[in-house]
Amino acid sequence: MNLLPSGICFYLSVAICRLTAEVDASWWYMGTLGSQVMCDNIPGLVNKQRQLCRQHPKVMQAIGAGMKDWISECQHQFRNHRWNCNTTVREHSLFGRLLLRSSREVAFVYAISSAGVVYTLARACSQGDLDSCSCDPTKKGSSRDSKGSFDWGGCSDHVEHAMRFSQTFVDAKERKERDARALMNLHNNRAGRKAVKRFMTLECKCHGVSGSCSIRTCWLAMADFRRTGDHLRKRYNGAVQVAVNQYGTGFTAAHTHFKHPSKNDLVYFEDSPDYCIRDHESGSMGTGGRICNRTSRGMDGCEVMCCGRGYDTSRVSRTTKCECKFHWCCAVHCRDCQQQVDVHTCKGQT
Ligand SMILES: *[C@@H]1O[C@H](CO)[C@@H](O)[C@H](O)[C@H]1NC(C)=O
Ligand SMILES: *[C@@H]1O[C@H](CO)[C@@H](O)[C@H](O)[C@H]1NC(C)=O
Repeated sequence: MNLLPSGICFYLSVAICRLTAEVDASWWYMGTLGSQVMCDNIPGLVNKQRQLCRQHPKVMQAIGAGMKDWISECQHQFRNHRWNCNTTVREHSLFGRLLLRSSREVAFVYAISSAGVVYTLARACSQGDLDSCSCDPTKKGSSRDSKGSFDWGGCSDHVEHAMRFSQTFVDAKERKERDARALMNLHNNRAGRKAVKRFMTLECKCHGVSGSCSIRTCWLAMADFRRTGDHLRKRYNGAVQVAVNQYGTGFTAAHTHFKHPSKNDLVYFEDSPDYCIRDHESGSMGTGGRICNRTSRGMDGCEVMCCGRGYDTSRVSRTTKCECKFHWCCAVHCRDCQQQVDVHTCKGQT
């Protein structure tokens, strides 16, 4: 696991993601200093965001705490890829200069982060962590689905509210810029928010005589964030390269044989670098030192991952559970075995 910001870096516009000790301290002492001071000390917020930050410091804190979840989902989705969504604290911004580009990877980061904000907020609302929201108040009375009628009960995740807040806060910066990149970011932010809503499911509890299920109480719940991650990863694979139309209001496909992007598609302008070598300008960390798989023919194979530079092999000893025996009843006892395994890591550039 790599370093994660301790909570201050709550949105990824490059400037906001400064991870300076100074800002961290002001976050930490929020209680003493008050939200006014805290929000005024976060660099890179536009006025609208500063205002929302002061009004809703707890919401900001929740968004900050939720960052590690969408970042680790991003890293899970790209674990076998040359670009692995690695974050850095050294360059004072979470993704280095990557987010100044307009590649497919940037499209993914914007989408999954705004999806993450929606997810985090809706969950915090349901858990009663925030004063400004709670369960979805519109889900009351009775309703019907394919299995018949049911009563709303329990707590439905208030995704609409989370989407509205996230849109107001996250999009505020892009709305101020109004250039091509802002247009791209807004589109991908929205695609991300919509992805969370897509996987809401109706969960029900049965009541009635001996579980007959003649009466049901149901609530709408968000699926595990993995569903959103998997979905956005598919959208990344099918992302559409676009250009801005002549009015500067929307997109046209960059190549005539490409399809026109829908609202759910991720869009990008620039071809990606190969991410083989460390390059500050393109936000590439390079693949030197990455673990690769000698027998795989996929992206995680040493040939592809190391970009033909070759790899080093080291033998490491791993402890695994072995000779497990089942004892009646009901326990499993294992021995610890030492196993020698070869680990291959890509050579760096010379
Ligand atoms: C992420 O990058 C840092 C710094 O370049 C490196 O030390 C770390 O091993 C990387 N993590 C992964 C999972 O690649
Ligand atoms: C390496 O790749 C092969 C073939 O795809 C796979 O069967 C194996 O489980 C992988 N090994 C590791 C350590 O991931």
